[in-house]
Formats: sequence, C-alpha cells, structure tokens
Amino acid sequence: SLAATAELVARTAGVRTAVAAFNVITLEHVEAVIAGAESAGAPVVLQISENAVKFRHGRLLPLARAATAAAERASVPVALHLDHVRSDDLLRQAPGAGFSSVMYDASRLPYEENLTATRAAADWAHARGLWIEAELGEIGGKNGEPPRDAHAPGARTDPGEARAFVADSGVDALAVAIGSSHAMTTRTAALDHDLLERLAASLDVPLVLHGSSGVPDRELRAAVEGGIAKVNIGTALNIAMTGAVREFLAAGPDAVDPRKYLGVGREAMARTVAELIGVLRG
Ligand code: G3H
Ligand code: ZN
Repeated sequence: SLAATAELVARTAGVRTAVAAFNVITLEHVEAVIAGAESAGAPVVLQISENAVKFRHGRLLPLARAATAAAERASVPVALHLDHVRSDDLLRQAPGAGFSSVMYDASRLPYEENLTATRAAADWAHARGLWIEAELGEIGGKNGEPPRDAHAPGARTDPGEARAFVADSGVDALAVAIGSSHAMTTRTAALDHDLLERLAASLDVPLVLHGSSGVPDRELRAAVEGGIAKVNIGTALNIAMTGAVREFLAAGPDAVDPRKYLGVGREAMARTVAELIGVLRG
C-alpha cells in the first residue's frame, strides 16, 4: 500500500531499526525494491532523485506514476520520496506526483545560504503536508565527482551547527556527513561513530545516512544502533543489476530479448534489497 515517509520513519523511533530507502532509476528498480521488501516483510521508501529525473528526459511523472501504481499494489507499506532536489521547479511537482516527502539539497552552499534556501523549502513543503529532509555538511560523491572512501573531515556535520540549522529551518530530518560518500562501488567507508553519537544527542529529528552502498554491514548496523533512522541506498542496486546483466550477456552473446537480461537484473536487485533490509533490522 502507498504509505507516508513520515509514518515509516516514525515507526523506527526507539526500536533501533531504520527504514531502507532505495533509489530507483528504471521500472525494474521499482519492481525489484517492492519485491525485495515484500520478501523481507518490511516497509520501504522508493526514492527518485533529481539526477534520475534528468535521465528520464527531465520528466518526473512517467516513473513517479509507475512507482505510485506499484506501491498501491504492494503487500507492504511503500512511501515515495523525491531525493536530492536542487530545483524549485522539481520541488513544486512533488505533491501532485504521489510523493509524501522530499530531500532538499542545498548542502553545497555556505551555511547561511543553505539555511535560507532550506527554510523556504521547508515552509513551502509543510504548507502542502510534505515531510522534508535537508543536508548539512557535505556528503561527497554526488553528480559524478569522484567517490571517496571518506570525505574530508572538514565537510562533516558539526553537532552545534546542526542543532541551530534544524531549529532555524524547521526540517523534519537531517542527512549527516559522518564518513560515507555517494557512489562507492566498494564497501570500505569507515563511519565516525563518535560524531554520530554527538549528533544524535544534539538533535531531536531523525538522522539520515546517505551513500550507504559503500558502508559495510557491521558499520551500517552500528549506525542504526547509533541513531540513524533512514538509510539511503542507490549504487548497491546498480552493482547488483549490472553485474547480473553482464554475466548473462557474457554467457549468451546471442541473447536479444531484454526481458531475459532485465529479468536477471531485476532478480539480483530484489535479493540485494532483501539482504540490506535484513542488515538494518539486525
Ligand atoms: O540519496 C541517495 C543515497 O545517498 C544513495 O547513495 O548510491 O552511494 O548508495 P549510494
Ligand atoms: Zn544521497
């Protein structure tokens, strides 16, 4: 069934678990995330990022409509989240496209500008009943910049600054820079658990981990124990899909029917989804 992100995140409060939020690019991603969540028997968030919208010729609705229809028919609660939004035009499309939440990303801006832009986005979102996440500090590896095992310590989220940022912007959740980085293809990120502990103690909103594909299982588990409530995962699905497709085509170079290779890709993604949900559940 179609659920609200706010409700799925609220369920994690006080029970040392996190909701998994997977980035989807194709219809196969959507179907795989739902199949994986159904086999794990867990709620899930489907995320469409601004970059994914760019890939879809700048159009949000075709994939969003497909995701909504698939979510409505799922046997587990599925929420739709618009991820890493920089464009106000895209932000404005969220409520009419089935999304209950957005991540507004002004993290590349200096503090005051990030705060001003995020506060305006939060006011706009709240007036329409949307749950809004923002980012402070800078989790690297976005938009094709090279992924790093750990971003510069100077880009990490400062607990005192984060407390003021959340209070002054009014956001519902905060993405924190604690050592993970986007688009990693090896699971070698080391998280700063000490910093996470200080952030969790300073803030009373749910904390979100980005770039989770590069984080090993034990580190993910420790992050959830330490107060992460939403875990964003994208690249892990693409690794699973592409690996399965590559293997299938290498074994049968005469294959032409996309259903054959997209099918094995979809199955590989669904297995990854179920496994990662298992890790977050502990
Ligand atoms: O917002 C999306 C996530 O941060 C995904 O990051 O592709 O490195 O797992 P990832
Ligand atoms: Zn992210």
